[in-house]
Amino acid sequence: MEVVSIINYKGGVGKTTITANLAAELVFRGKRVLVIDLDPQTNLTFSFVKVDEWTNKYQKERTIKYWFDSIIDGVSPVPSFEDLIIEKNGINILCSHLGLIDVDIELAAGLSSGTERQHKNNFLKTYSLIKKELENIKDQYDVVLFDCPPNFSIVTKNALVASDYYLVPAKMDYLSTLGINQLRNNVDNLVKQYNKYCSTDSEIINPEFLGVVATMIAVRNGEPISAQRNYISTLERSNINIFDSMIRENKTIYASAPEYGTPVVFQSHSSGTYQEVVQELENLTSEFIGKVGI
Ligand SMILES: Nc1ncnc2c1ncn2[C@@H]1O[C@H](COP(=O)(O)OP(=O)(O)OP(=O)(O)O)[C@@H](O)[C@H]1O
Ligand SMILES: [Mg+2]
Repeated sequence: MEVVSIINYKGGVGKTTITANLAAELVFRGKRVLVIDLDPQTNLTFSFVKVDEWTNKYQKERTIKYWFDSIIDGVSPVPSFEDLIIEKNGINILCSHLGLIDVDIELAAGLSSGTERQHKNNFLKTYSLIKKELENIKDQYDVVLFDCPPNFSIVTKNALVASDYYLVPAKMDYLSTLGINQLRNNVDNLVKQYNKYCSTDSEIINPEFLGVVATMIAVRNGEPISAQRNYISTLERSNINIFDSMIRENKTIYASAPEYGTPVVFQSHSSGTYQEVVQELENLTSEFIGKVGI
């Protein structure tokens, strides 16, 4: 099982859209996929589940918030992910909840007390909660995808600690390209601090940077417009891995679903543009499979 965080602190760059489409396409190709929505905005959840259904059936006891709350409240036994996961179109989903925002505050409170040694132990324990739980289901999935929120919260860091790889969707503009370096530095610092506290080599983590996926590209005559080509070249020159497959901007197709955003690969349009958009997602999935090795 390979675990991948889809992450960028910048909001609205296509993290959720890429996670949902990648998951759908991977399942179509016969992979066993679990997606975990770690964003209190719950957009990924509502890409797959109708709001009414979530409210009536899952809101109370089938979300990642419920799992964290059980740990914080000392419930015994803590429910396993298996008890919480739901299934839609072959995709296994661990839903999010608006209240997940409060979980971070509770977890932070537990981190800030005691002696140096207690701090170390609390740090390792708090940041490895999800990692430990995934070990119980590692034979059941080929891949786990985390849709991360646009921040570097304790919940986000839990995803990174649990991950073999992280993938960064980014728009190709000046601030976005600057942000990629900052994100990588922060991930490196988290990894260093975590590994410094580990007492055995087997606990050491090493989430690998899988690459940037250029999203919302403005395409003219089949190519990114020149301003965006420049940012792509700049990234390449600074040795930042960038996926060959890029995702174009297409508001009609990416925002045409009635609810949040049914994966494009589940929609049906007859236009040539739709075929091209689907082709991009298929190419991205093939490249992803190759890089992750699943
Ligand atoms: N390639 C695209 N072309 C046009 N619109 C897109 C594209 N990808 C995503 N969008 C739209 O842009 C908005 C933001 O996308 P998305 O929610 O995937 O970003 P995000 O990075 O997950 O945001 P957040 O940081 O808030 O979680 C959504 O309305 C989505 O439908
Ligand atoms: Mg999102």
